[in-house]
Amino acid sequence: MDLSNDFQSWASAIQQRTEQALDQALPATNIAPNKLHEAMRYATMGGGKRVRALIAHAAGEFCGADASKIDQSAIAVEMIHAYSLVHDDMPCMDDDDLRRGKPSCHKQFDDATALLVGDALQSLAFQVLATPNLHPDASHQIKMMHLLAVASGSRGMAGGQAIDLASVGESLSQTELEYMHIHKTGALIRAAALLGAYSANSWDEARIAAIDHFAQAIGLAFQVIDDILDAEADTATLGKTAGKDANSNKPTYVTILGMAHAKALAQELYESAVEPLKAFDHESTRLIQLAQFITQRGF
Ligand code: IPE
Ligand code: IPE
Ligand code: MG
Ligand code: MG
Ligand code: MG
Repeated sequence: MDLSNDFQSWASAIQQRTEQALDQALPATNIAPNKLHEAMRYATMGGGKRVRALIAHAAGEFCGADASKIDQSAIAVEMIHAYSLVHDDMPCMDDDDLRRGKPSCHKQFDDATALLVGDALQSLAFQVLATPNLHPDASHQIKMMHLLAVASGSRGMAGGQAIDLASVGESLSQTELEYMHIHKTGALIRAAALLGAYSANSWDEARIAAIDHFAQAIGLAFQVIDDILDAEADTATLGKTAGKDANSNKPTYVTILGMAHAKALAQELYESAVEPLKAFDHESTRLIQLAQFITQRGF
C-alpha cells in the first residue's frame, strides 16, 4: 500500500483520540458490576482498525465539524460495531474464538457476559449521542440519534445479520448478497460518515450528499474486501479465524462472483465512492485517501 506518511499520521492520531474518548465514556472496571465493565472494555478498547472512527472524522472534517464533537459520534458507532462483533462471534452466530488477535469476548468471559456486553454497549452508544448540547440544534441531535437507531436495528445491521444467518448454505443472487452486505456492514459505515458530517454546526446539503454517496459505496466495498480477506489472508494477519466463511458455508462475494470479479467490484466501488468528491478538489483528499486505505487493506 502506498499511502502517504501524512495519511498514516492523521490516521494514528484519530485512532489515539478515539481510544481516549472510549476510555472516558466506558465505565471503569472498579465500578460495579465490575466483570461486565471489564468485559465491555475488553471488547471495545485496544484493538480494531477504527475504520468507522476514521470515516466519521474524515467526513466531519470535510464538513467543518470540531474534532471533539466528531469524537462522540465516532465512539458511539465504534461501540455499536464492537457489540455487533461480540454477538457475531458467539456460538449461536458465527462461533468464532478469535477476535482482534485475542480470545473472543464469550471465550474470555462467558456467553451471558458477552450477551450483556452487547446490550450495554448499545445503550451506552445512545447515551453518548444524547449528551446534552452535543449539537447546538436539538432537532439536529435527535436526527443523529434516529439515524444511528435505524442503522443498528432490524432495517440496518441487526437485519443484515439475520439475513446472513438465514443464508448459510444458500446460493444467493448478487442482488440478494448486496442487500445483505449493505445492511450488515454498510449501514453502520454510512451512519459513521453521516454522523461525522452532521457533527458540523450548520449542515451543507451538497457536502452531505457527496458524503452519503461515498459512504454507501465504501460501506459495501468494505464487506467485499472482508470476504476477500477471509479467503486470502491468514489468521495471524487478520486477528480472526481465516477461511471461516467457506467452512461455515456462507455465501460471499468470493463464492458468488469468484475472486477476480470480487476484486474488480471492490475497485469499481472505490471509483464510484470518490467520483462526487473530485469536485471538492484538495478538500476531499483525506476522504479519497481513506477510500484507498479501505479498498487496498490487507488486514
Ligand atoms: C469486521 O469489521 C466486521 C465487518 C463488519 C466486516 P472490521 O474489519 O472493521 O473490524 P475491526 O474493528 O477492525 O476489528
Ligand atoms: C460481520 O460480518 C458483520 C457484523 C458483525 C455486523 P462477518 O461475520 O463477516 O465479520 P467477521 O469476518 O466475523 O469480522
Ligand atoms: Mg457474521
Ligand atoms: Mg463473523
Ligand atoms: Mg467476515
